[in-house]
Formats: sequence, structure tokens, C-alpha cells
Amino acid sequence: MGLFSLFTKEVAIDLGTANVVILQNDTVVVDEPSIIAVDTISRQLVAVGKAALMMEGRTPPGITTIRPLKDGVIADFQAAEMMLKEFIKMTGTKGYLFPPSLKMVVCIPSGITEVEERAVRDSSEQAGAKEVRMIFEPMAAAIGAGLDVMSPDGNMVVDIGGGTSEVAVIALGGIVISRSSQTAGDEFNDNIIDYMRRQHSILIGRSTAEAVKFKVGAAIDNLEDPPEDYEIHGRDLVDGIPKAVKVNYREVAAALDHSISEIESIVLNTLESTPPESSADIYKNGIYMAGGGALLRGLDVRISKLTHLPVHIASDPLKAIARGTSIALKNFDKFPFLIR
Ligand SMILES: Nc1ncnc2c1ncn2[C@@H]1O[C@H](COP(=O)(O)OP(=O)(O)OP(=O)(O)O)[C@@H](O)[C@H]1O
Ligand SMILES: [Mg+2]
Repeated sequence: MGLFSLFTKEVAIDLGTANVVILQNDTVVVDEPSIIAVDTISRQLVAVGKAALMMEGRTPPGITTIRPLKDGVIADFQAAEMMLKEFIKMTGTKGYLFPPSLKMVVCIPSGITEVEERAVRDSSEQAGAKEVRMIFEPMAAAIGAGLDVMSPDGNMVVDIGGGTSEVAVIALGGIVISRSSQTAGDEFNDNIIDYMRRQHSILIGRSTAEAVKFKVGAAIDNLEDPPEDYEIHGRDLVDGIPKAVKVNYREVAAALDHSISEIESIVLNTLESTPPESSADIYKNGIYMAGGGALLRGLDVRISKLTHLPVHIASDPLKAIARGTSIALKNFDKFPFLIR
């Protein structure tokens, strides 16, 4: 550790709608859901991250849970600031002579407005950052997937998060073209809740819907290695009594079909608008997927079938964007695409 690093703490932050991942010295130091719990009246912080998530949907009286981000951007500025402060505290000050000066790179969705970008910068500064740079998420995803973003070779990345899906073509250190949609993991959960209500007359909460997605979620109905049916519990819509239902992955594929088609259409739309030279590169290199949604069973196969292109899933897709942001942090003054 150089002398400089005794005074400066450098962190890379993926401030996601569903999860916040923070890396310091290439190590994941925070990996928490993007949620806080506050006292309903005083608005004082009660819990953050995993501890707050446990309260969601079953909040004790006097406590409210807040998800500060929605659709990829900060929806509740005050809550975002509180959350970020707590997460930065979790990174600790061990090994520093004095309270270190904080330098950070935060990733932001490519379709972000100026006001939304300002909100990210302000909450980073409020959380203690002295120097902040931002990076567009698809760029971070591409770096995290191990691609050489400075090369002239065009690459396509598809990042499916909780609140946004982003598709981008990257070449020569820039985003050649990008498209985004608010159809992503959160909407998949809503699709599952709706499906269960319509088909099985059962009312389930968000966390159960997410468990269904993890256990038996699929984008196609002919998986090579299908998961076993998964039993869920919820409230019967007719008599109000708790009941159990076994869910098959094919049902989830049906429930998600419409949303997946929306993601397919932004992929196609991006390909159609890609300059021919980059198209030729993508034909050769294929498509790279990152973000938690990349883990949905059969999604790679479905996109590959649609585009007739090879589809690669970044290793540990939930952390790929944060990993890319961390590499950007190391090139703080070098990467031309970091936003001041
Ligand atoms: N195994 C899995 N199968 C399907 N979906 C998954 C799986 N694991 C995680 N997810 C989903 O991925 C989403 C979270 O991904 P990620 O952490 O990349 O999003 P985010 O960065 O917080 O959101 P955004 O980029 O939209 O702001 C959640 O909706 C989660 O349910
Ligand atoms: Mg993300």
C-alpha cells in the first residue's frame, strides 16, 4: 500500500435498483440489497440492506421500508443518501491514519437524465466523496465481462438488472449505440405475482415471487436441464386462507414471455441501428450478457435463437458491472469515457 492510499480510500460502486455492490482494492466489500427501513414518523434509519430486506412486506408497526432506486435511477434522494452513507461506513476505515478522503466511481444507466445524474453525484458527495466520476453501466458491464472497450472491435452487451435492461454496442472507448427498457428483474417479479393470482388464485408477495424466479424461473419452455417444481405458499384469493401451490418452470416461462419479448425487441432494435462495421464485429464476437437477469434459465438460448448469434454470459454476472467499475477506478484519469 503506497503512502497515498493511507489517506485516500478508493471505492467502485454499482448503485443498482436491486443491489449495491462496492469494491475496494478489487475486493467486494459490500454486496447488499438496495433497501432501507426507517421509523415511519421520525424518518430515522432503522436498518439497511439485508436487515431491511427481512422487514419488507412484513414491516412491524412504525417501520417503513424504502427502495431508494426505481427503474435504475434514484427515486428517493434522501433515502438514497442514507443508504449510500451506511454502505460506505461498512467499508470501514481500518488501515487509514486519518479519516480517508474518498474517491469513487459510480455507474449510472446510459439513458439517465441530467437531473438524475445530478442526484447520483449529490448523494455520492453527501456520502463523503471528494472526487466522483461516473461511468455508463453498459460500459462498466463490457469491461467487467473482460472486453477490451478501447479496441476498434465493436461488442454488444446486454445488462439486465432489477430496474433496467440496457443494450449497447461499444467500440473505441465509446457507446456507439444503446437502448434501454424498464422491463427487467422487478417486472419479472410482478409478472409472476400476476400469473399466480390469475392462474392459481393465490396472492404472493414480492420475495416469494423472486424465490419462484430463482428456483424455477425460465425464459423458454424446453430447458435442457429443467429444475424441479417449486412449492410456494400464499393467501387464497377466494377464502383468504393460506394455501400451497406447486409451480413448474414452464408456467414461469409463460408468465415472463411478454417481458422477455420486450427485451428481445430492444436487442433487435439495437442490432438494426448498429453501423455495418460494428455489425460485422458482433457477428464474429457475439453478444455478452451481464446483470442478475443474465442468470434467468434459457435467456441466453432464447436471445441466441432470435439473433442467430452466440451469446456469452459474463462470469458472476451480478458482480460484473461492479467489477468493470472497479477497473475504471484504477484508470480514473486515463479512461476518456469517465464522466466528471
Ligand atoms: N438466478 C437468477 N435468476 C433470475 N433472476 C435473477 C437471478 N439472480 C438475480 N436475479 C435478478 O437480477 C436482478 C438484480 O440484478 P442486478 O443486481 O444486476 O440489478 P441492479 O444492478 O441492482 O439493477 P439495475 O441495473 O436495473 O439498477 C433482480 O431482479 C434479481 O431478482
Ligand atoms: Mg445494474
